[in-house]
Amino acid sequence: MQRLENPGFGRIFTDHMVTVSWEAGKSWHDASVRERTPFQLDPASAVLHYAQEIFEGMKAYRTEKGGIVLFRPEENARRFRSSAERMAMPVMPEEMFLTAIEELVRIDRDWIPSGEGSLYLRPFMFADEAFLGVRPATRYTFCVIASPVGAYFKGGAKPISVWVSDAYSRAAPGGTGAAKCGGNYAASLIAQAQAAEKGCDQVVFLDAAEHRWVEELGGMNIFFVMEDGTIVTPPLGTILPGITRASLMILARDAGMRVEEKAYSFDQWQDDAARGRLREAFACGTAAVVAPIGNVRHAHGEFSIAGGEVGPVTRKLRETLVGIQKGSQADAHGWLHVI
Ligand code: PLP
Ligand code: COI
Repeated sequence: MQRLENPGFGRIFTDHMVTVSWEAGKSWHDASVRERTPFQLDPASAVLHYAQEIFEGMKAYRTEKGGIVLFRPEENARRFRSSAERMAMPVMPEEMFLTAIEELVRIDRDWIPSGEGSLYLRPFMFADEAFLGVRPATRYTFCVIASPVGAYFKGGAKPISVWVSDAYSRAAPGGTGAAKCGGNYAASLIAQAQAAEKGCDQVVFLDAAEHRWVEELGGMNIFFVMEDGTIVTPPLGTILPGITRASLMILARDAGMRVEEKAYSFDQWQDDAARGRLREAFACGTAAVVAPIGNVRHAHGEFSIAGGEVGPVTRKLRETLVGIQKGSQADAHGWLHVI
């Protein structure tokens, strides 16, 4: 397990997987923890045609004292449930979801990196009924796989650059933006590829209706730190309700900061950056943790934030969050789930 020292993100997989089946009339059945092997899928499986698929992303951490913990896994169970409801898929009881995660972490515990790495867990569910009609499928497979990971971005914790997409939106009102479904990511790939072409790490999406309000990144939520210390983040609705986002809002308030969930336009962002009213901006998510945004590119130019450096608020929030996850800071909110 040499490669555990520098695993990158999502390239190495552990030895096992958990699967549970669901069928109309039979509900959840045949739960098993077994060797990680390819699926056999009928070519007519509904997921291959109409993308009935949802997933989650969470991590198991090895604490400084050697224990193994999950961070707020109940929140992932709850979000998985609401994603399932949105995609007309069966709801998995939250206890079953948590048991599946725990079983996989226990059997593959030697794969959890120590130090800065963690074990990324990917629970997902897809429709595998062989049927070409367009309606919710009557058969599904739930699965959890795991991957030892290090930093999501190649530059590690260094500030990232973002491209503000002028051509694409991620989600529309009434759409699936708040669900963690594969289709959202499929639709975002061209915008992310364009960001990479522009030399940026991530794409920023504006809202679909007016193309004016900042929503989120391809795989992360976004925060702005203003000169008076107020922290602003876009409201829920069409964005993914990030668990890191929700946790950072609590940690910022604990530290005495004012946090506002409010619509923030790209024009305002540019203006605030130009006039020195915006001090910092950062992206956050399970995979990315807290990533400072150093440079913003858009169709008409670019600007930098915090001189392209890591700002003090971003640094403090990142340290507090990682400290809780690694057990070096007190878990005042009872967020850790010990395995
Ligand atoms: N937004 C998108 C589109 C994401 O894919 C993610 C990652 O899961 C997030 C936000 C952050 O969510 P969380 O903090 O729950 O990982
Ligand atoms: C996560 O943070 O868990 C995600 O699913 C986002 C993706 C960029 C890996």
